[in-house]
Amino acid sequence: MCGIVAYFGRKHAQPILIEGLKRLEYRGYDSAGVALLEKGAFNITKTPGRISALEENLPEYESDSTVGIGHTRWATHGQPNQINAHPHVDYTGKIALVHNGIIENYATLKKWLIKEGCAFQSETDTEVVANLIGYFYDKNQDRNGRFAPKDCNRFEWAVQQALSEIYGTYGMAILCVDCPDMMIGVKKGSPLILGVGKNEYIIASDASAIVQHTTQAIYLSDGEMAIIDSDGFYTKTITNKEVQKELKEIEISLDQIELEGFDHYMQKEIAEQPVSLETCLNGRVDVKNGRIILGGVSQYLRELTRTKRIILTACGTAWHAGLVGEFLFEQLARIPAEVEYASEFRYRNPILEEGTVVIAISQSGETADTLAAIEQARDRGALVLGVVNVVGSSIARLTDAGVYLRVGPEIGVASTKAFTAQVAVLSMLAIELGRRRHLSTDAVQSLLRELMEIPAKIKRILAQTDYIRQIAQANKDHENWLFLGRGFNYPVALEGALKLKEISYIHAEGLPAAEMKHGPIALITDRMPAVFVATRCSQYEKIIGNIEEVRARGGKTIVVATEGDEHIKPYADHLITVPETCDQLQPLLTVVPLQILAYHAAVLRGHDVDKPRNLAKSVTVE
Ligand code: M6R
Repeated sequence: MCGIVAYFGRKHAQPILIEGLKRLEYRGYDSAGVALLEKGAFNITKTPGRISALEENLPEYESDSTVGIGHTRWATHGQPNQINAHPHVDYTGKIALVHNGIIENYATLKKWLIKEGCAFQSETDTEVVANLIGYFYDKNQDRNGRFAPKDCNRFEWAVQQALSEIYGTYGMAILCVDCPDMMIGVKKGSPLILGVGKNEYIIASDASAIVQHTTQAIYLSDGEMAIIDSDGFYTKTITNKEVQKELKEIEISLDQIELEGFDHYMQKEIAEQPVSLETCLNGRVDVKNGRIILGGVSQYLRELTRTKRIILTACGTAWHAGLVGEFLFEQLARIPAEVEYASEFRYRNPILEEGTVVIAISQSGETADTLAAIEQARDRGALVLGVVNVVGSSIARLTDAGVYLRVGPEIGVASTKAFTAQVAVLSMLAIELGRRRHLSTDAVQSLLRELMEIPAKIKRILAQTDYIRQIAQANKDHENWLFLGRGFNYPVALEGALKLKEISYIHAEGLPAAEMKHGPIALITDRMPAVFVATRCSQYEKIIGNIEEVRARGGKTIVVATEGDEHIKPYADHLITVPETCDQLQPLLTVVPLQILAYHAAVLRGHDVDKPRNLAKSVTVE
């Protein structure tokens, strides 16, 4: 949440910052700002609203400053207005910074700083950091009255003093008017990358704001800082110990982050699924020999095969993928498994018996609750594996090993191609564990053949997009929807409801279909569409019964069924079909029409689907 970008080089900083902020806008979009360092002062423009609003408010002349910082905000402390927008400047006017994260002890520090005579303008936790750095810089003394060492850089020293007072998470870029040839980036618990170009440096929350300028980058670890000056850059810990960092190649390309003719990233990412899944499966599935090759976790497969219990932990859509994973591990590998909301798991003092394996699932690899759940699990000695999309992300680095999704950047706030890849990775893992434990070669080969056919089958579903759009058109004005499924289609019902609510602001509830008669059936009217995921699988007859119960009460049904199923036709006011596959792989197909339905309902209602209200792509705060 929140995107930060900072430029230090020889080109005009302002257009680079604005371009970078547009790339990062999916991380938060309630207010934005830039500060340019010019002629011994900060030239600051801040505004509530989107980056487009910020652009409109920029001065007419283009500043020739070559150093600046920018921010796009998802508000945590204080309303999304101009005063609370970043960058924040300290009480002396010498320090400016942008911040992604949360300062947990900001209230105590603020009280102390006010007592010391510092004035505050905003309600944010971030301004406390600006004032804290400003205070140490101004006084040139630490809290115990000790002067800054003579041979140190006072700006760098003041930053370190301030950070030693702070509890919480941060990715920050910091400037000081007295040091126009210097920029500092610091990281703890929030992502921060330093792009290293030819005579130019870009600090950013993620690689999408950097890749246009350079593909070389340093990924800072928690507790590290990068100091850029006219001689280049150096890295150290925030406690002032030198660290050597390796330059790494950024793995995303510019075309992956462009819209390429689509209206929205969500639309592009839905359409990409045949290809993204192929990339995810490529080289990992050996149908002939009935084997799965997952290099990232190979050294832990023996431990995984013997484990007595698997705990999957995640948030949101990734949690839904985890629920599919729970069913997969139980059915295919016969290993007890359960999925946990990371936000609950982290505070529950969970019992992890020896040999429990924890699998953390996350597209961004930066979700704060999932990170905290991983730390819990590691503290209790569990082996923790990651199923992550963003290469080099915090979760990828914190886990013992893992499997990357390999689907390229997912930019739309509503997760789509990450979900199908998460399910595909969990399917591969479960099949491999099943093979090692009890599944016959024939059974494994048959599952793998089915898995390899999924991308082509998704193409057939995508071909129905116009038809699904008509269904969205016919139902878009209903304010309450139900999504119902059984077995492997139950997590899909949850995911369909989440997709619809987060981008169309329609109230939607996902349920196991049989739960209807225990309460929710009371809601049924002809103004509440019930979406049934009712493919031909083991519980087919049962879900037909559930559809009948809804229709008997005047309910209107949208049914996702298997191609060629004539029997189900009379049960559907609107029928969408998906190709046939085995029970366990149903979610990979049945989720796709629900993604398309949600996308079109939101577009038809006039919403910005890539930037739904109140949301941000990666939830890096609690
Ligand atoms: O990056 P993560 O996969 O860890 O994100 C988890 C959730 O925040 C995310 O799936 C969220 O629920 C999406 N907006 C759903 O579309």
